[in-house]
Parts: sequence; C-alpha cells; structure tokens
Amino acid sequence: MKRALITGFTGQDGSYLAELLLGKGYDVHVLVRRSSHSPFVRAPHLEGKVQVHHGNLRDYSALRNVILKSNPDELYNLAAQSHVGISFECPDETYEINYAGVGRLVQLAMEHNPAVRIYQASTSEMYGSTPPPQDEESPMNPVSPYADAKYKAHRDYVVGYREKFGLFICSGILFNHESPRRGENFVTRKITISFAKIALGLQEYVELGNLDAKRDWGFAGDYVEAMWHMLQQKSPEDFVIATGETHSVREFIEEVARFHGIAITWEGSGVAEVGKDQRGVVRVRVNSRFYRPNEVDALRGDASKAKKILHWTPKVDYKTLAHLMAQTDYDALKAAVG
Ligand code: GDD
Repeated sequence: MKRALITGFTGQDGSYLAELLLGKGYDVHVLVRRSSHSPFVRAPHLEGKVQVHHGNLRDYSALRNVILKSNPDELYNLAAQSHVGISFECPDETYEINYAGVGRLVQLAMEHNPAVRIYQASTSEMYGSTPPPQDEESPMNPVSPYADAKYKAHRDYVVGYREKFGLFICSGILFNHESPRRGENFVTRKITISFAKIALGLQEYVELGNLDAKRDWGFAGDYVEAMWHMLQQKSPEDFVIATGETHSVREFIEEVARFHGIAITWEGSGVAEVGKDQRGVVRVRVNSRFYRPNEVDALRGDASKAKKILHWTPKVDYKTLAHLMAQTDYDALKAAVG
C-alpha cells in the first residue's frame, strides 16, 4: 500500500485530494495546524479515514516527526498562507510559510527518503504581470508577497532541488480552482454565499473590490487529479493546470445572479459603480477596502502540456462550476434558516 502525506489538509484541495488518494487505496496521512476547529469541518466524511498529525510548516521538529511517522512515498505540499490580498498585510508570515516552510519540508523529506516524490502547490499568481495566455515557458513576474514567496519556493526548492539533487519534485502551476468547499474570503465563494443570502432575503448587497480582474476558473476536484498524475510520471516536470478560458469577476457575479433569477445591470464607475437588479435595487457595491495594492489583471492558462503528457483535461466547465457553487450555498443556507 502506498503512503501519502498531505500538508494543508484543511484547505479546499486537501479534502478533494484525500478523497482521491483513499479511493486509490493509499494510506493517507495529513498534517494540520492545531486549532479549536475540527480539521474535518470541510469534509466530515473523511474523519477516521485519514491519519491526522499536528504541526505546521514553521515547526521543524513537528515536520520531522510527521515525516518519520508517515514515511511517505508521495508528499503533497498544499499548506500555505493562500490569500493573495492578505499577503500584503502579512508579508513576513507569508514568506515564512510559503517559502521557508517549503524548504524545511522538502529538505527533511529528502533526507528521510531520497526517493520520495513531492508535489509542490505552485500557482498562476507567479506569472503576475505577464499577459495571457500563460504556459510553463512564460516569464514569471510576481506582483504580491504571496506570489513572490511561491515563485522563490518554485525556483529554489522545485527547480533547484531537482537540478542539484535529482529529487523527484514537481510544481503544479494551478490556475484558480474553486468548489463549494472554497474558503469564504475568496471571490467566487464570497459571491455565491452573498447571492444565496440575497435570494433568501437575508442580505441586501455584496461589497467587492476589483470587478474587472480576469481569472481562469476551474473545479478543484478536477485539479487534484492532475496533482496525482504528476507524481506518477517517469520523471518530474512542472505543469500548468487550467481550463484555457478566462472570465472577469463581473461576469462571475452576473452568472451567479442569473442562476438566482436576478439580472444585474451596471451603473457608474470605480468605487461609485453599482450593480442593480431588475427592480433597481443595488445588489453589488464596490469598496476600496477589497482592492489590492497591486493586482494581477488577467490569467488564462495554456494546459496543453498536461493534456499531452498527463492526459488531463478539466471535466467541469465555468458555468457548471458557478451553478454548482450557487446551488450548494443556496441549499445549505435554506436548510439552516428553515
Ligand atoms: N478575495 C477577494 N475578495 N477578491 C476580490 C474581491 C473580494 O471582495 N473583489 C474583487 N476581487 C478580485 C481580486 O482582486 C482578484 O483579482 C480576483 O478577485 C480573485 O481573487 P481571489 O478569489 O482572492 O483569488 P486570487 O486570484 O487572488 O488567488 C487564488 O488563486 C490563485 C491561483 O491563481 C488563491 O487561491 C491563490 O492561493 C491561488 O494561488
């Protein structure tokens, strides 16, 4: 039986990946930060199926312990300070986890077992100001502390350790990926929760930042399959994982509103812009609090390499994803309010 260790289990991708690996018969170990919340809040059905270890990427001793105890054949490093906006407020912590922490983990795992296979959660944010489409050869120009730390981890511990030590380590350069398990402060989930509340009369409007940023949004459940495929290859390589389609935040709002029978029309510009429903009620406002000091304007990935080598293609399209998230939030909220 193969053993896998997943860091960042409590995040969106952690639960999807654990499900996938359990389905393939892996002995799944997960690393979680101690907190007053259960690590199974997002995925209660996984309780008792994975072996939980406590620790975090800052704690060298905890990392050594979890590696000794789990003795992984495959290590998936999904742990991160994953919010780009918050990284501007907490740059040091972001760097400590997203860069230095990766170094600690990779070094320990390699010393324990030089044949270990490692997946590093890299990101399309690394492309920063490079215009779309972005593929594995596109220049990386990070524009946030989050992206900078991720880029340096990719450069030093993925490309660097592969070249220096022959380590089997791959970067998955994943473009935005969403699901009903997405954290509530990422834009898609914020929109689907807010519109579920608006549809149920529990909230009047949602406040957002930049409506014109464009993202390549896929489904997290599809993307974890690509992670697994990367570690099954003969040699370690980096892969862009994306849908190849791009949509603005504004379009995502319109799609979710439409799902609830609300037709949004836009008036004004900048922070004065509002989105009104067909009755003229303001449902979207712009608040500069949600602007970032520096923004990635447009992302659209070219995943041709993943298609060719991993035989991976996304199954859930943008519209299906938006509707799945909208429906799930609406159903959960309706059940909660009775
Ligand atoms: N979070 C948030 N909240 N974003 C907003 C808001 C808001 O109220 N209003 C507008 N946006 C815009 C952001 O400025 C950004 O351009 C876009 O919506 C998407 O923001 P997020 O959902 O926070 O995701 P992200 O693109 O910054 O980063 C996500 O994807 C990366 C992959 O490209 C995160 O999951 C990263 O961890 C991941 O690496």
